[in-house]
Amino acid sequence: TFVVTDACIRCKYMDCIEVCPTDSFREGANMLVIDPDNCIDCAICVPECPANAILPDTDVGASQWIGINATHAASWPEITRKRDSPVDADAWRGVPDKFARHFS
Ligand code: SF4
Ligand code: F3S
Repeated sequence: TFVVTDACIRCKYMDCIEVCPTDSFREGANMLVIDPDNCIDCAICVPECPANAILPDTDVGASQWIGINATHAASWPEITRKRDSPVDADAWRGVPDKFARHFS
């Protein structure tokens, strides 16, 4: 499956939602996650993310995010329509380790 990682936090561009054929994205306050039970591994969303936040679960950078995506996908609501990103999204793009301070 694919997972959303740290780079999404406070960027939340939501371009990923528009292309997912299985509506697998779930919305938290500061980021999205992918429901692993829904994702069909098509990889279409990967190049759509301006923050390069979506990784295959086999990527070393995805390891801590597999559980986070699975856990929160169970309770966060489905999101199928792109809205406006946070006004300061571009300022957070590329900032490392956002998880510790800004995850929600
Ligand atoms: Fe959706 Fe495909 Fe991305 Fe999985 S890999 S979240 S099915 S677009
Ligand atoms: Fe996040 Fe990228 Fe989607 S920043 S909301 S994973 S387009």
